This record gives sequence, structure tokens and C-alpha cells, in this order.
Amino acid sequence: MSTMRFDKVSKVFLNGVEAVHEFTMDVHEGEFIVLVGPSGCGKSTTLRMVAGLEEITSGDLFIDDKRINNVAPKDRDIAMVFQNYALYSHMTVYHNMAFSLVLRLENPNKIHERVLWAADILGLTPYLNRKPAYLSGGQRQRVALGRAIVRDPKIFLLDEPLSNLDAKLRNSMRKELKDLHHRLQTTMIYVTHDQIEALTLADRIVLMKDGVIQQISTPFEIYHDPENLFVANFIGTPPMNVFELTIRSDGQLMIEGTPLDISVHTAFLSLKKQNYFGKQVVVGVRPEYIRVEPAQPTAQGNFAVVDIYELLGADALVHFMIESTSVTAKVSELIPIKAKESICYQFDVEHLYFFDRETGVRIRGER
Ligand SMILES: Nc1ncnc2c1ncn2[C@@H]1O[C@H](COP(=O)(O)OP(=O)(O)O)[C@@H](O)[C@H]1O
Ligand SMILES: [Mg+2]
Repeated sequence: MSTMRFDKVSKVFLNGVEAVHEFTMDVHEGEFIVLVGPSGCGKSTTLRMVAGLEEITSGDLFIDDKRINNVAPKDRDIAMVFQNYALYSHMTVYHNMAFSLVLRLENPNKIHERVLWAADILGLTPYLNRKPAYLSGGQRQRVALGRAIVRDPKIFLLDEPLSNLDAKLRNSMRKELKDLHHRLQTTMIYVTHDQIEALTLADRIVLMKDGVIQQISTPFEIYHDPENLFVANFIGTPPMNVFELTIRSDGQLMIEGTPLDISVHTAFLSLKKQNYFGKQVVVGVRPEYIRVEPAQPTAQGNFAVVDIYELLGADALVHFMIESTSVTAKVSELIPIKAKESICYQFDVEHLYFFDRETGVRIRGER
């Protein structure tokens, strides 16, 4: 178990691309950190700098308070698992896992013990004499993990290790990884572009965009308390609905000609003080906080016609238009709604998010 400190760690490639800009964070002992963000945002580069596979252009990286910028990869005591796990095809599972220990000239009895221990944890004991070609995708990925854990490293780095697996296997491997982390208690840094993996695996999520950290938070916080519009859009499926709407000069939010009273919202005073009254803002609302019911004369709110109705099981997604924006509401399947029929919708005011139209920065309540 180890702590880590990134202090303004940056990477500029020879072609001038700044892949990572002043990455700064403290990683606590035994933490499961997930770096998430769209393709090209600098996740792998960050991980490769930790592993020592990529030189750090500027900034400092510490493991257990020791600066490791110039420590050789083999001396960092870090194990890395990649998406393309590249097992040695001519070696058995046993030898694949033993290999790095053999290279390090460990005592043969110790090697044997470690391999059996890792095989037991990963459920690979029955397959130790098989070659990779005779294993399933999930089993192969477990061997790749096994190769990493036999070394008992200070830190695990995992770069999209589940991306090559089919959806069902990915879900079960996700649970296994979480379980593995509980058992080993080793500090892990895990890279993925998949926000569901980030939400389910992480103790804390680091969300990146264009080489810059957007937010570092627990999964709960990043979902409920996004710092900006990018984070709000990236986390959550279906994604948060966002509109450009006008706040009237009397502080009411106008939706399709109907005023919505937002005076109960925690950000109401900030909106007023920061001169957003009379202006357009970006308003976000998650699908579960738009209430939808069949249109009846007594119904409250605005009316719309359902474009598409998707049954998911216990829930359903209702798609319709508000102010020329396509909107998705998530409702119980018990609410009788059909495609092409009229509905009445209402926003749950307390669960609205406000963002500055230019910067995308969240407009919060005063704290
Ligand atoms: N060796 C390299 N030389 C130049 N640019 C690179 C190199 N490796 C990555 N990049 C660029 O750095 C950025 C970040 O890449 P990467 O860290 O692989 O992103 P991610 O893993 O988040 O998809 C991208 O713009 C990518 O094209
Ligand atoms: Mg990558």
C-alpha cells in the first residue's frame, strides 16, 4: 500500500502536444482511483508517466514521499495491466504468472507459493497447465491480472483492462476487480473512458478533458454535484438534459412561455447577485427529475407529445421536445404513457442545475 502525490505533472510530446496539463492530486493509501474522460484526454499518458514509460516534462511525482521522476520503471515497484494483455502464448498460465518473478530471480519456492496464491484468488487454479489459446477472454484477462498481483507491487496501474471483453463479462469482471481490491487493499489507478466503470469502481473519480482535470470527487459527488457542464454531461446515462433558458427579470424561469418559480432553489440568490436575471443560462436536469404524466385537464405543467417511449424494465424513458431541444425523462413503467400521445411535464425545481452560458461553470448556491 502506498500514497502518491502528483504536483503539477505535465507532459508535452516532442510534436508540441500537451497531453497532460498540471495534473495535481494526492492519492491516499489503498485508494481505488479511476481516471475517466473521452478518448485523447490524457489518461494513458498520465498512467504511463506513473509507470515510468513516459518521461515527465514538468512537475513532480512522489510515491510514499519519494520523488520518482527519475527512478527507472523497474525500480518503481509498480505493476501495470493493459487492454491488450499480451500473454505469452507458448507458456502455460502458471508460467505466464511466474515469469516476472523468475526474471527477478526470486526463490523458486516463493515463486511457486505466490503463483498458487494468485491463482486461488483469481479462480485460475484449474487452468494452471493450460496455454492462453485454450482460455476464455475473461480467463485470459484474469491471467493478466495474476501476472501483476504475484509481484505484490506497491501500486497497480490498469489501462482499460476490460475494454476487450463483451458487455456481460465486463460486468462480472468489474465485480471481481472490486473484490480483488477489497482483498489486496493495494493502491490502484484505473483508466477507462466508460463512466459506468468509473462510478461503480472508484473510491474517487478524476474526470479529465483535454489534459486538464475537471473534477476530483467520489462517484456520489460527481453525479450529484458536478463542477461544470462538461462533468454534468459526461456522467450519467441517459445524460443530463440541458437547455438554454431565460431567467426573467423577476426571477422566474421561462419554459415554453410558462414561468417556473425557482425561488426555492439554493442557487436563486447567487443567480440574482451575479446578474443572471434577465439573461439566458444553461439549465440542466437529470432524466429522473422530470416528472411526466398523461395529459389531463387537471394536470400541472407544460404539455408535449411523446416522440419515443422506451421500456427498460422497471423504468421507462420518455423522449419529447422542449423548446426545440430533445429531452429524456426517466419514469416508472407503471405510468401509462405511449408514443405519440400527449403528456404533461414538470421539472423538479430543487434538482435543477444552473451553468454559465459562456464558461459552463456551475452557478451554485452560496456556501
Ligand atoms: N507518443 C505520442 N506523441 C505525440 N502525441 C501523443 C503521443 N501519445 C499520445 N499523444 C497525444 O496525447 C493526447 C493524449 O493521449 P492519451 O493519453 O493516449 O489519451 P487517452 O488515454 O485519454 O485516450 C492525445 O492527443 C494523443 O494524440
Ligand atoms: Mg488511453
